[in-house]
Amino acid sequence: MTESVFPKDFLWGGATAANQVEGAYNEGGKGLSIFDMISFIPKEERTKDIEMGVSSRKELDTLLAQDTSGNFPKRRGVDFYHRYKEDIALFAEMGFKTFRLSISWPRIFPNGDETEPNEEGLKFYDNVFDELLKYGIEPLVTLSHYEIPLNLVQKYNGWIDRRVVDFFTNYAKTVFNRYKDKVKYWLTFNEINVSTMEPYIGSGILVDEVEHVEQAVYQALHHQFVASARAVKACHEIIPEAQIGCMLARMEVYPETPNPDDVLEALTQEQKNLFFTDVQVRGYYPSFMLNYFKDNGIHIEMQPGDEEILAQHTVDFLSFSYYMTMVASGDAERVKEKGNFFTGVPNPYLKASDWGWKIDPKGLRITLKKLYDRYQVPLFIVENGLGAYDTVEEDGSIIDDYRIDYLRAHIKEMGEAIKEGVDVMGYTSWGCIDLISASTSEMSKRYGFIYVDQDDYGNGTLERKKKKSFDWYKHVIATNGAEL
Ligand code: BG6
Repeated sequence: MTESVFPKDFLWGGATAANQVEGAYNEGGKGLSIFDMISFIPKEERTKDIEMGVSSRKELDTLLAQDTSGNFPKRRGVDFYHRYKEDIALFAEMGFKTFRLSISWPRIFPNGDETEPNEEGLKFYDNVFDELLKYGIEPLVTLSHYEIPLNLVQKYNGWIDRRVVDFFTNYAKTVFNRYKDKVKYWLTFNEINVSTMEPYIGSGILVDEVEHVEQAVYQALHHQFVASARAVKACHEIIPEAQIGCMLARMEVYPETPNPDDVLEALTQEQKNLFFTDVQVRGYYPSFMLNYFKDNGIHIEMQPGDEEILAQHTVDFLSFSYYMTMVASGDAERVKEKGNFFTGVPNPYLKASDWGWKIDPKGLRITLKKLYDRYQVPLFIVENGLGAYDTVEEDGSIIDDYRIDYLRAHIKEMGEAIKEGVDVMGYTSWGCIDLISASTSEMSKRYGFIYVDQDDYGNGTLERKKKKSFDWYKHVIATNGAEL
């Protein structure tokens, strides 16, 4: 057998989020979360690539009034709430060392601002963690994965309000105390940088209720940074042997050409992406961002002690999602052409997924090296994968060679980075079981090794089927990445 470049204790596994798999949105005492309010819009009717925000109270009230008449896929997920035993048995069969999941904050605190938790919610995760540990699978738990309790939006306009820091701290301490013997790996905020693109999803902000959106977003983010640092402190005190990390939606940006204008623009965009990890890993606001705030009329209201807590309670490791890279041009007119999924100009060297996400395995190696050079802390790839349409053949098989090719290429580049000296703790492929898409609420955008029989409208038996990639990934794990 070829020798593995991966460390012996490398954490192979898969990743999900409560809002995309659990369903049972109104069972077990759970309150509504922000993502329970996002309805499905068919592709032909969509006006944006991403349909995951609510911008006004009026829009929110209209959605609330639709109640059962609307199609809100994240409310049904893929029924993990009732089928977790079957799903975890399949993860165990693949040999998972870890499984990333999130705790739905409103399952524990239905309104977010109570002082006492909901026992039924706590019990559910006890059961899930016990089931994972039965197979020797380490839970990797995200505290907040786009699941802000809706009440915190309605009553406080989300993270803009400083009181939310206390609510979150209470929630974090509650789950650390409850699961201290079961969970060793934690993440604070999923893709903390997403607020700058989607203030409702990242920070629970209704933008029509604020005067200066950027000001509101960065103030909310300051509160999230403080809350994250407080969670790090509490985690270390309550579970000394645990490790807790931050989580970034990593957007590597290449300059389009060696023209210094392009290079400078790419660097500026990189700095804005890395600002979040600068604060959470290094423990302070970088000077380029303080200048950006000054130039853009943004004032961050800090309380005494905030800077100290940020500095003293930095994360143990840096985790990130990796799906694509961007290309920057210094020419503002060219940027308007939009050749990449989020922003930027086209990259002629890369192919894209059916959703226009540029596929760039080598970019993962570049990003790993860059992050490790900058921060010198262990890295964890907690999301990577290919969203694709799958076909069930007449004999019931699902031949997803395109997914295997994608994952193989990325894992290979991760191995190269490890060979070059980067410290990588683990790799959890996104959506190891098919789930509801975060950005489009589609079921038909599938990432899994396990197929779930359900369509965009909730029709289907929910039966689980192994795809071809299931056995492939099982072999990758069994050989510790030596055979891809
Ligand atoms: C990340 C999120 O942005 O990307 C996940 O953390 C999400 O929640 C994943 O599902 C893939 O995005 P999408 O839109 O294809 O589901």
